[in-house]
Parts: sequence; structure tokens; C-alpha cells
Amino acid sequence: MSILSIIKNRRSIRDFQDRDIPEDIIDELIEALIWAPSAGNLQARRFIFVKDRAIKRALARAALGQSFIAEAPLVIVACADLKRIASRYGSRGVNLYVIQDVSASIIQLMLLAHEKGLGTVWVGAFDEEVVSDILELPEYLRPVAIVPVGYPARVPQAPPRRTRDELIEIR
Ligand SMILES: Cc1cc2nc3c(=O)[nH]c(=O)nc-3n(C[C@H](O)[C@H](O)[C@H](O)COP(=O)(O)O)c2cc1C
Repeated sequence: MSILSIIKNRRSIRDFQDRDIPEDIIDELIEALIWAPSAGNLQARRFIFVKDRAIKRALARAALGQSFIAEAPLVIVACADLKRIASRYGSRGVNLYVIQDVSASIIQLMLLAHEKGLGTVWVGAFDEEVVSDILELPEYLRPVAIVPVGYPARVPQAPPRRTRDELIEIR
């Protein structure tokens, strides 16, 4: 698969098979997270890999009851390390760079997961405080996204994209 076909064919998956992910593939997903670019190469991010059923159910409740989260064999909570980014970049780091750092890792993981036959979905709708409590996160770690990962049980149609004219401006 070319990178462009991976990009275009990846879908948000919200139905997962009851099937574990082999450890060697999880290992490659970790590599995808690690090798994303980051501001000043600070890598101010941390990823909590959740396999425990009770914790996954609690995360699903914290995410406005998006129950598919609890059905995935692996749920990754992607966090921004505010302390690390602030040490060099102050408020611009905290408000902008660190969110971009985490997001870059997430999208790399999602694309690699798709290449490996796995499905993912970026979940942004959740109560940050509740998620922090569930995972007992220190103050300086801000949960940015929840990413369930698993083998797809159903792949939806591609939602439409805006046209090139709407999206691109050439000057
Ligand atoms: C920042 C962000 C937050 C999102 N939050 C949710 C969410 O809470 N629940 C969900 O089911 N999908 C969520 N999505 C997935 C989008 O709905 C999905 O990417 C979009 O509809 C396009 O579909 P596709 O990913 O299949 O191309 C989110 C995506 C992004 C980038």
C-alpha cells in the first residue's frame, strides 16, 4: 500500500472484533508514537496503554458513554507533558506545541495501525478531569485523546471531504 492509499483508506472504526493484538504489532505501534516529530525534539508526551476491562469501561463512561471504547482490546490515552514543554517554550508550548506533538504521534499510530489491518478512532469528546482521576495522572499530564485500537468488525463508508477549492488557497 502506498502512503497515500493508507491515508485515504483509513476510517474511524467504532466496532471491534473480540481479538487480541499481537505483541510484535503493539511494539511497532509504539515505534510509530516515538518517532513522530516534536517541538525542539522534547517529546513532551506520554501514552497510557489500557488493557484492563474495568478501566476501559470507566474511560468509555468518561467519554460521554461512547461504549465502543470498552470493546477495543487496547485503548491508548495520549497525554501532553505540560511540565516538559513549559520548561523551554512557556505558554506557547503549553497552548500549542504540546498538543501538536501529541497529535503528530497519534496520527502516525493510526496510519501504521491501518497498514497492519487494525482499526482506530480518535476520541476527543471526554471529561478530562474524570479521565485524569481514572488513570491517576499527575497534574502535569493532560489527556489529549483516547484512541481505541483493535481489529475492525465493521468499516464504515468514507465520510465526504471538503473540495480542494474550499480547502486550499493559493497566493
Ligand atoms: C480531534 C478529533 C476528535 C474526535 N472525537 C471523536 C469522538 O469523540 N468520537 C468519535 O466517534 N469520533 C471522533 N473523532 C473522529 C471523527 O469523527 C472522524 O475522524 C471524522 O468523522 C472523519 O472520519 P474518518 O476518520 O473515517 O475519515 C474525532 C476526530 C478528531 C480529529
